[in-house]
Amino acid sequence: MNQKNETYVQVRGHIEAILAEPCDWVAAMATVACELHAAFDYFHWTGFYRTVRAAHLQVGPYQGGHGCIDIPFSRGVCGAAASTKQTQLVDDVNAFPGHIACSSATVSEIVVPIMALDGTVIAVLDVDSNNPAAFDFIDQEHLEAICASLGARFGHEAIGAIAK
Ligand code: SME
Repeated sequence: MNQKNETYVQVRGHIEAILAEPCDWVAAMATVACELHAAFDYFHWTGFYRTVRAAHLQVGPYQGGHGCIDIPFSRGVCGAAASTKQTQLVDDVNAFPGHIACSSATVSEIVVPIMALDGTVIAVLDVDSNNPAAFDFIDQEHLEAICASLGARFGHEAIGAIAK
């Protein structure tokens, strides 16, 4: 197993152990952001944008520098992940039309949508790196697994917090 894969297996084990105790959606997002950010040197911004009303994301728990507050589903890499329900793996953000630059140091990013069991997008997990092409299928596979489990467990609670 390569080092990155091994680190993901370890960090997923930590997350699972911490979230084994009763906790809510915000506590879970904060824990995942912290554990992932601490585990990988190339994660320079690690956090969540939550669906707060129809087709609209707002920043949630994160680690790293300043994150923009509001992102509509129609904008940026986060918006693309939310509107297509597909992971966005971007090697060079400068080549991504409509990329929202919260930090000019960001070069690459991966954004994974989080769906409740009924398919509602409740949030996205956004990880940004100052390194070019920092993310690959290994990141995608593990981050998608983390997001799938968050969506299944906290989907109902998160949908309840979306303004009608
Ligand atoms: N990368 C995002 C914006 C959020 S910040 O970078 C933290 C985007 O273009 O969707």
